[in-house]
Amino acid sequence: MDARAEIIRADGVTKRFGALVAVDNVSYVLRENEVAGIIGSNGAGKTVFFNLLTGYYEPDKGTIRYQGVDVTHMTPQQRVARGMMRTFQLTSTFDNLSVVDNLVLSFFRAHRKPSLLQLLLNTSKGQRDEKKIAEVLDTFDLQDVRDRLVKNLSLGEKRRLEIAMAILAEPKVLLLDEPLAGLSESEIHRVLDVLRGRVGQQTILIVEHKISHVQKFLQRLTVMHEGRVIADGGVEECLRHPEVRRSYWQIETTAEQDRTVVA
Ligand SMILES: Nc1ncnc2c1ncn2[C@@H]1O[C@H](COP(=O)(O)OP(=O)(O)O)[C@@H](O)[C@H]1O
Ligand SMILES: [Mg+2]
Repeated sequence: MDARAEIIRADGVTKRFGALVAVDNVSYVLRENEVAGIIGSNGAGKTVFFNLLTGYYEPDKGTIRYQGVDVTHMTPQQRVARGMMRTFQLTSTFDNLSVVDNLVLSFFRAHRKPSLLQLLLNTSKGQRDEKKIAEVLDTFDLQDVRDRLVKNLSLGEKRRLEIAMAILAEPKVLLLDEPLAGLSESEIHRVLDVLRGRVGQQTILIVEHKISHVQKFLQRLTVMHEGRVIADGGVEECLRHPEVRRSYWQIETTAEQDRTVVA
């Protein structure tokens, strides 16, 4: 028995699109400060399951609990207000504002400040808030581009900004759907580095297609295939699982020209 508190619990969750069962009776538990990943081939149901957790879809069957509360029929906004946060994939940023202005806005949205003046005024509270934003710029390696307009950022810088904006809201759980998609190897390392800095103080769930990217980073793995969970547990243990090797593993190794996935 794991003593850590349950943050998210899905029980027997199913989502259909017509005849297609995209998510098929999935049960899943995410515990406090876990760094967990869900992998699977394209079409396995990862994003649909992610959208069920965050409230973008309602399941046809089953329940989703967040810190013990049934949130199955709550909107994404209601879930965010309870401390669930997903990165909004390239849409949450304001392209014509600078990096630092985006961070300030995100901070305000999250902390529901009565007015922008409060931060800009030279109050001690304002100074504390400014310090927080400076810290985030450091942590996320964004100091060099702090005054750059978001539309002029590289994809990797933008991805780090999105995660930084989510973290500023101090969410209980950070949910990331393919945060490494489209990034170069060096950008992948930088994004993983900033996430690694959160380990131990942040519950993180990453949905990822390529296990090779996140294998060393994850403490726990869940493998989906055709809408079902086929393995759940330690990373190495999951990758040794016969059904994983038959389905997901095969797909990744052939697609990746057999790059080394298991040490
Ligand atoms: N809005 C939708 N309408 C119909 N089918 C969908 C919808 N979203 C996803 N699907 C289907 O559900 C299955 C799982 O998709 P998805 O969760 O996006 O896979 P992945 O594991 O690649 O993220 C796929 O067959 C996909 O085509
Ligand atoms: Mg997906």
